[in-house]
Amino acid sequence: MASQALVSFLFALALVIATVRCNSEVDVLSAWKATLVDPNNVLQSWDPTLLNPCTWFHITCNSENSVTRVDLGSAGLSGSLSPLLGNLTNLQYLEVYDNNITGTIPAEIGYLTSLVSLDLYNNQLSGPIPATLGNLKYLRFMRLNNNYLSGILPEQVIGLVSFGNLMILNVANNSLAGTVPSTNSTGYAVTTIIQDPRAQNA
Ligand SMILES: *[C@@H]1O[C@H](CO)[C@@H](O)[C@H](O)[C@H]1NC(C)=O
Ligand SMILES: *[C@@H]1O[C@H](CO)[C@@H](O)[C@H](O)[C@H]1NC(C)=O
Ligand SMILES: *[C@@H]1O[C@H](CO)[C@@H](O)[C@H](O)[C@H]1NC(C)=O
Ligand SMILES: *[C@@H]1O[C@H](CO)[C@@H](O)[C@H](O)[C@H]1NC(C)=O
Repeated sequence: MASQALVSFLFALALVIATVRCNSEVDVLSAWKATLVDPNNVLQSWDPTLLNPCTWFHITCNSENSVTRVDLGSAGLSGSLSPLLGNLTNLQYLEVYDNNITGTIPAEIGYLTSLVSLDLYNNQLSGPIPATLGNLKYLRFMRLNNNYLSGILPEQVIGLVSFGNLMILNVANNSLAGTVPSTNSTGYAVTTIIQDPRAQNA
């Protein structure tokens, strides 16, 4: 019957759309994995043929099977951060601290407007802190300390302390220029800004 065929067709179409939507996060993370050196095989479970990345180790999803956490702290990884990470639209926690990550912080990280925690400390990141990070109004923790970041801390990022939810902003031990206002209270939450110069060898 024609109506039955139509129903089957619409069902198939919905399935295709759902698959395409889910696959994009698999594609993003698989593309990033392909650029990383992973001596401890922590990314072994990142199978690019799955419909979503929700069963992969170090990945957490919400009830809609969309990625909310990437937990790759102290994983022994080298390589760089992919601009494609900016496509993980529901990401809340980007935990890539204590690795050997080089290169710059992609401006696209500033598209992750649900981000709560951005932990990139103890790596070898260089270049500027992107002003786009000032878009991250829900961000509570931004720890970029112990890298080789240069330039000034953008005023948009400092603005997150006053106008956003940022509680901890740690940019200590980088190669940043300029000074940071020593505000440490938003009136609602204690905020700590830590910007020590790079530790000198005695
Ligand atoms: C990432 O997002 C951009 C801009 O929305 C889009 O053009 C691109 O196809 C996306 N890439 C992947 C792998 O999803
Ligand atoms: C960085 O790489 C070096 C050399 O491979 C290794 O000894 C060190 O443990 C790595 N550091 C981290 C934090 O993964
Ligand atoms: C400063 O950061 C560099 C690069 O990550 C690191 O090698 C060094 O140990 C850090 N120094 C201190 C005192 O934390
Ligand atoms: C906030 O700053 C004041 C004045 O510099 C200082 O006395 C206080 O210990 C700071 N509080 C925190 C939690 O860093």
